[in-house]
Amino acid sequence: MSYTLVIFGASGDLTSRKLIPALYGLFRKRRLPEGTRIVGFARTPYSDDQWRGKLTDSTREFAGAEFDSASWQQFAQSIHYQPGDIGHREDFVALKKRLDELEGSADASRVYYLATAPQFYEPAIEQFGATGLADESHGTRRIVIEKPFGTDLATAKRLNEEVHKVFSEQQVYRIDHYLGKETVQNVMVLRFANTIFEPIWNRNYIDHVQITVAEEVTVGRRGEYYDKAGVLRDMFQNHLLQLLMITAMEAPVRYKADAVRDEKVKVLHAIRVPTPEEVCRDTVRAQYRGYRETPDVAAGSQTATFAVVKLSVENWRWQGVPFYLRSGKAMSCLTTQIVIQFREPPHMLFPSGRRFEQEGNRLVIQVQPAEGIQLHFQTKVPDAGMQLRLTDLDFSFQREFHGTMPEAYQRLLLDAMAGDASLFARADEVEAAWGIIDPIHAAWRTTGKPQMLEYEPGLWGPQAAIDWMGAQGRSWFDACPVIDGSHSS
Ligand code: BG6
Repeated sequence: MSYTLVIFGASGDLTSRKLIPALYGLFRKRRLPEGTRIVGFARTPYSDDQWRGKLTDSTREFAGAEFDSASWQQFAQSIHYQPGDIGHREDFVALKKRLDELEGSADASRVYYLATAPQFYEPAIEQFGATGLADESHGTRRIVIEKPFGTDLATAKRLNEEVHKVFSEQQVYRIDHYLGKETVQNVMVLRFANTIFEPIWNRNYIDHVQITVAEEVTVGRRGEYYDKAGVLRDMFQNHLLQLLMITAMEAPVRYKADAVRDEKVKVLHAIRVPTPEEVCRDTVRAQYRGYRETPDVAAGSQTATFAVVKLSVENWRWQGVPFYLRSGKAMSCLTTQIVIQFREPPHMLFPSGRRFEQEGNRLVIQVQPAEGIQLHFQTKVPDAGMQLRLTDLDFSFQREFHGTMPEAYQRLLLDAMAGDASLFARADEVEAAWGIIDPIHAAWRTTGKPQMLEYEPGLWGPQAAIDWMGAQGRSWFDACPVIDGSHSS
């Protein structure tokens, strides 16, 4: 069986920055099934050769040191282009004819990748249905849908309904590229392939969990999209909730798409949907100074570029353990980390030896960029009485495995081709995630609380977020990872 990957939105940024470099990377590692064809579809009237030329330049730029002309020339032979407009039925008919010609008489598996702007998802899906492109009598037909999947619960439901008119759920692969990251998958391995963590991974030992996705970049040229989305839609509904689900889920009975996703969805169902009063108490929102001067951002914009959301997972394992989710643009540094803060010892033997305020054990999972895990624990400082200090066991993927981490899209593209949906969001999962985010947006809008704050770019958000955490007797673990494995605050 051969494979055809059809990319809709072929002339866009995602295609040139992520998808083609990822496919080329797979080709270089000989992971792309032999004979795989890549067909681009977009309105720009390129020929095959023109599109290949354009991709040669962009891949040289985005694949960096991995690019080499000889292997690229070989790979480029499998790239084709079919001009067309998603609004025109006849262009889909022409695409179908072209795909049939490229594939010849043998059956082929197809993956349709919607890398277009989101407003084209529904029209494209309707065209697949009308032109028989979803029909599986000559091989599997799968559809990959990029984020954002809807902008709230109502639009996500509607999109799911439209998708399901044409494709069965088994054919649908909703992307959250965080699930393609090695370190995110490794959280499952850490928890479920080891025996020492799981017994303490619960309310008896854990005080709270912090999940931070901090970015140094500003909104930059994405003002038009971002001002409508804001940090909750852009980062929380998808990436942060995915990290929370993987941290909080029960062990699936087997590593199979539905078993994994069933457990993840249960976590979302266990999250207490906050009332407007709780939203006021349990969230912080802020904008970085200068955001409103960004091109295409409204002058009086009330869009948050930073937020903290405290969520409760109400089940036996997590009752009373707050999950603090935090994300923002224009912050101190680029870091995605999950911090498991353990409780303090019930009785401290060494009161006089304390140098710092008592700190419990902490497991820090560095998702990126200094991928690794540190376990923090108290140690006796030599030759200093009974003075203690928090030190750490430090595991680094880079030191252990050398080589660079593969791009998340490599894994996701291969899985979609192979029909493994474990690392993709299911229909009920995206809807349940919106069901948590919508009430927060609604409360912010209707009550105007908590107040929108401002923060200086280059910090860990507004001071109020630090004070807010302090008022709960806790503090953020704010460390900027340093790629050589050491850490600085
Ligand atoms: C995207 C968001 O989904 O994820 C961006 O739209 C964000 O705003 C990006 O910068 C972060 O992804 P990563 O892989 O760089 O952490």
